[in-house]
Amino acid sequence: MNEANKKITINDIKAKKGKEKIVAITAYDALMAGIFDGEGDIILVGDSLKMSFGGENETLGATMEEMLYHTKAVCKGASKAFIIADMPFGSYSTKEMALKNALRFYKESKADAIKLEVGLDKAEIVRALCNEGIAVMAHIGLMPQYARFEGGFKVKGKIDSQIKTLLDTAVAMQESGAFGILCEGIKSEIAESITQRLSIPTIGIGAGVACDGQILVWSDVFGFFDAFKPKFVRRYCDGKKLLKEAIKSYARDIRNESFPSSQESY
Ligand code: KIV
Repeated sequence: MNEANKKITINDIKAKKGKEKIVAITAYDALMAGIFDGEGDIILVGDSLKMSFGGENETLGATMEEMLYHTKAVCKGASKAFIIADMPFGSYSTKEMALKNALRFYKESKADAIKLEVGLDKAEIVRALCNEGIAVMAHIGLMPQYARFEGGFKVKGKIDSQIKTLLDTAVAMQESGAFGILCEGIKSEIAESITQRLSIPTIGIGAGVACDGQILVWSDVFGFFDAFKPKFVRRYCDGKKLLKEAIKSYARDIRNESFPSSQESY
């Protein structure tokens, strides 16, 4: 198998730390996963699908069945990327629940790893998953699953107590066996300290350029979601405008009977 067709493994991801930036993006279906596959390293089946795909304003409603359905689809569409499945809100509240649900991702899909939103209190859960042979990415900082509890999506690392908690949590997750840390909405200099302190890679979203890699939600990257643009998003195309123009042309052609043509008919 040549390098271009090679499946990216956890060892490839870990080996990039300090050498080469890790490229990550979300996807929720086989079609998009197939387009992204081979261009980056990681595809995350994020519970952000409830917002960017499901039209909700938070992620809390995601269920195990939904996350499994989308993870299976992404695994079908991507043969090279390292695929991470997001554990939905309420699916890892205890060690037993976390094990039962994480094992479902491993048994029912081809996901390479799972991701959990964690504080220090989740270190033992992460350790239990890793002991069972499940690769864990620990998500720290702004944790969308805590949006109701915290009254919104709050950037972290602005005050001393938060800075210490972030560093302690990142170190505890590494010690518990996590293979990587997702840093969301963290002041850049704090994400940089975390990245320097750890031997495992950090993937940032709204956490500055020093992280070992970057991730964005696909509908933000390609301009399909335009209700608002978070400061950390860079758009690489105006997907919504492109599709709007295309659907208008399609509707026009049906109405004026130029579609289907005789070549498009039996
Ligand atoms: O659910 C998700 O897509 C995420 C990203 C915001 C990193 O966790």
